[in-house]
Amino acid sequence: MSAEVLLLTEFKEIPLLHRGKVRDIYDLGTHLLIVATDRISAFDVVLPNGIPHKGQVLNQISAHWFTTLREIVDHHMVTTQLEDFPGLPQDMAATLSGRAMIVEKAKPLPVECIVRGYLSGSGWNEYQEMGSISGIPLPPGLKESAKLERPLFTPSTKAEVGVHDENIDFSSMVQKLGKKLAEEIRAVSLRVYEQATALAEKRGILIADTKFEFGLDENNSLRLIDEALTPDSSRFWPLDGYAPGGPQKSFDKQFVRDYLVSIHWDKKPPAPTLPEEVVRRTSEKYVEVYERLTGKVLER
Ligand SMILES: Nc1ncnc2c1ncn2[C@@H]1O[C@H](COP(=O)(O)OP(=O)(O)O)[C@@H](O)[C@H]1O
Ligand SMILES: [Mg+2]
Repeated sequence: MSAEVLLLTEFKEIPLLHRGKVRDIYDLGTHLLIVATDRISAFDVVLPNGIPHKGQVLNQISAHWFTTLREIVDHHMVTTQLEDFPGLPQDMAATLSGRAMIVEKAKPLPVECIVRGYLSGSGWNEYQEMGSISGIPLPPGLKESAKLERPLFTPSTKAEVGVHDENIDFSSMVQKLGKKLAEEIRAVSLRVYEQATALAEKRGILIADTKFEFGLDENNSLRLIDEALTPDSSRFWPLDGYAPGGPQKSFDKQFVRDYLVSIHWDKKPPAPTLPEEVVRRTSEKYVEVYERLTGKVLER
């Protein structure tokens, strides 16, 4: 594999279902092909640069967690060995090697299942305004980035394109999904987060919070879908240097953020081009995340 970046895929052989900020999703009928490109976003805007190896890292971190956590949650992943999947053109399989997975299509549930172990981001904002998160009261006087006494399940709506997700309390989730399913999802989300954070912490990474998506399979059973516990769906902080009382450094995007802040970009598109040095150091960080979490060397 080379250090070339893949910014966009435009395969004509298979219908493109969706292009997200980072991933391109193709429709294989009963299955989906989820391609992680090397696109990167900061402050909610996609940057012009690609980050070498980022797509492989994202794809393989999700795959790692699906496999590692399969005892506690069923997932949608079928394979990352694209050449094994009948019907996928060979040139696609070759181009996408390492950065794509084939998954079973599920019926996505209309909630983002966020688990927070630390007080940050919109959770910190809500705590400052209301003293609670997602309707769950918290003790007064907590500092920004403080570790919560126990992780909290704080769902949000899955907003349409261009609209920001909105935090909802658990009773609104019960109204949407019914009590039984909502409770099952909350319990599974917390269990998966706790298991994953314990493993990550041993390797020097704090997963401050994360977002899961769930779907129902053809038997109406719950499946973990989308990506899982990646730096794109989670806040990863270096354990080394963790200090509550302000925002923490991002394990993966800090060089990008520092650069964008230093040039006083107004955070409106189009985003500025990153210098080569920022790209190189960011790429190294993504590879480091992968290698720390999985204990494996990234093949490239
Ligand atoms: N197994 C699956 N079955 C059906 N939809 C899925 C599955 N896995 C992920 N998805 C959906 O694919 C989409 C991925 O989009 P994404 O790349 O995250 O872009 P964005 O969220 O920025 O629109 C989400 O809508 C997610 O719910
Ligand atoms: Mg998404």
